Amino acid sequence: MTIINQGIIQEAASYIQGESAIKPEIGLILGSGLGILAELIEDAVRIPYDDIPHFPVSTVEGHEGELLLGTIKGRPVVMMKGRFHMYEGYGPEVTAFPVRVMKELGVQSLLVTNAAGGVNTSYQPGDLMVLSDHLNLTGKNPLIGPNDNNLGVRFPDMSEAYSRRLRGIAKETAASQGFKVQEGVYAGLLGPTYETPAEIRMLRTLGSDAVGMSTVSEVIVARHAGIEVLGISCITNMAAGILDQPLSHDEVMETAERVREQFLSLVLAIIPQM
Ligand code: HPA
Repeated sequence: MTIINQGIIQEAASYIQGESAIKPEIGLILGSGLGILAELIEDAVRIPYDDIPHFPVSTVEGHEGELLLGTIKGRPVVMMKGRFHMYEGYGPEVTAFPVRVMKELGVQSLLVTNAAGGVNTSYQPGDLMVLSDHLNLTGKNPLIGPNDNNLGVRFPDMSEAYSRRLRGIAKETAASQGFKVQEGVYAGLLGPTYETPAEIRMLRTLGSDAVGMSTVSEVIVARHAGIEVLGISCITNMAAGILDQPLSHDEVMETAERVREQFLSLVLAIIPQM
């Protein structure tokens, strides 16, 4: 377990503040396919994760490991291009460390997106789903360990992990763009294997509508820090056992690519309202 304390959070934040004068109000953690949003940030300053003190050492390739600060439609934002997953070997507190740093920079609301498998059989690949709630099935929690009361309370309330206000904005914005989003419960698992058909039947019985391998630790830390959260999944495939075909990362990437424009225009229209 890595101990995350105010000292290391402040060191990371001061470095970032030395690179950009932006005081971000909105944090963006965008999953598979939406990294392109980076190109739409105005006057962006890009900071490689490797340069930021105490940031996890990135295992991702290419330009995926950087933090961007700038504005989108006039709102100051900080965006993670590439996120950290527990299946890469990071502890939950490490995957969520950037959220701590975002809070220190001034972030008040966070948009997280991800790719997810559809567990609800009425969903279709290409649907977008606003998260109404999640099931943390990773068996881990980023808040385990000593609690720093300056960062948040020991026993955080999770009864509205995903803000009702922001969910409303997301649904209305989608409607104004002429499409309907699903709204459902995201089950967060460790991965990296996709689930078995039996696990998917179990998840459906437990009340989940979609399944993925990210997001829950970031959202737990955001709520601990008092940040308002909006989560949106791109349903990239039907989960295991629903269709008579194997799952592949290629299918996930293809669907993410197919709906990218729609997802991007939704996100762009939501950001100024956050
Ligand atoms: N399962 C878990 N994670 C995923 C899936 C899935 O079916 N699709 C995209 N991410």
